[in-house]
Amino acid sequence: MVIPRTVSARTDNHGGVRTIDWQSDHIVIIDQTRLPHEIVTRELRTVPELVTAIRSLAVRGAPALGVAGALGVALAALSTADPVTAAAEIRAARPTAVNLAWGVDRVLAKLPLGIPEAVVEAITVLEDDVRLNRTLAERGADWLAARVPGRINVHTHCNAGALACVEWGTALGVLRSLHERGRLGHVYADETRPLLQGARITTWELAEMGIEHTLVVDSAGPSVIANGLVHAVVVGADRIAANGDVVNKIGTYPLALAAARAGIPFIVAAPESTVDEATPDGSAIQIEVRSEEEVIEFAGVPIAPEGTRALNYAFDVTPADLVTAIVTEERVIEQ
Ligand code: MRU
Repeated sequence: MVIPRTVSARTDNHGGVRTIDWQSDHIVIIDQTRLPHEIVTRELRTVPELVTAIRSLAVRGAPALGVAGALGVALAALSTADPVTAAAEIRAARPTAVNLAWGVDRVLAKLPLGIPEAVVEAITVLEDDVRLNRTLAERGADWLAARVPGRINVHTHCNAGALACVEWGTALGVLRSLHERGRLGHVYADETRPLLQGARITTWELAEMGIEHTLVVDSAGPSVIANGLVHAVVVGADRIAANGDVVNKIGTYPLALAAARAGIPFIVAAPESTVDEATPDGSAIQIEVRSEEEVIEFAGVPIAPEGTRALNYAFDVTPADLVTAIVTEERVIEQ
């Protein structure tokens, strides 16, 4: 078998470039640390380069991390003498999104069959991501369109768009599908401190799609909901436990509380690869704690007195009873 070469000749993703892709023998990503000011693509030719890109959030978002894990094992098979050890390093690069380990394990399972088979499996994970996200986005749009009349105003958090996947997006994919049907109204997006995925990336994607939107600070989200500005909250997920608890970007839980209080739907859009049946509930999920500098500095400039300590949880747990529905490519789980 010949090792597959370039894939993905065609994409409608940003500027015709996929968020993450495979070219001949290496990975290509859009470097998300540079958005929204410039679209810079980076070639990742070694496992340490990939691990650094994952840790620094140059590639980020649960589905994109799943693809990064899968392509990473293909890269390890082609570029290292010990791909199993390299795969373990990729797997450990970030702990919370289960997709990363899922992508690594899928390709690792094919490695005993040979390197070409492993590369084919990695490319299958890549291509499947596009198809699955479009399917779940349509299903999420169907669900909302059937329950909310007229144009639907939505609040979202972090970035669950094309840039969190290979293309299209999960939560923003649902909004994109509603937009195409003429059923989307206004979208409110949170900044998503401290790394500003909402302010930098979600607003950029919404503008590209021609969707009317407004940026709010994270702490304003519950007031947007309480003031009746939106009909629903739609977010992505990094891991969904067997009992339906949802782990997503820090700041998701207050939105779910506010949505429950206001009596509006709180919808989680995620692929099946985000569902972790092996984890009984949210308390068993490791929440990534990132560096204090991300909180006490802004663009490298200190914003708190010297010596201030910070606790930088990257994710929180939204209990299942606050989640109205989880939408995947296969099902809608109403809880
Ligand atoms: O730290 P990040 O930017 O990787 O966190 C991303 C999120 O929390 C997203 O909401 C989640 O991964 C879903 S992306 C479709």
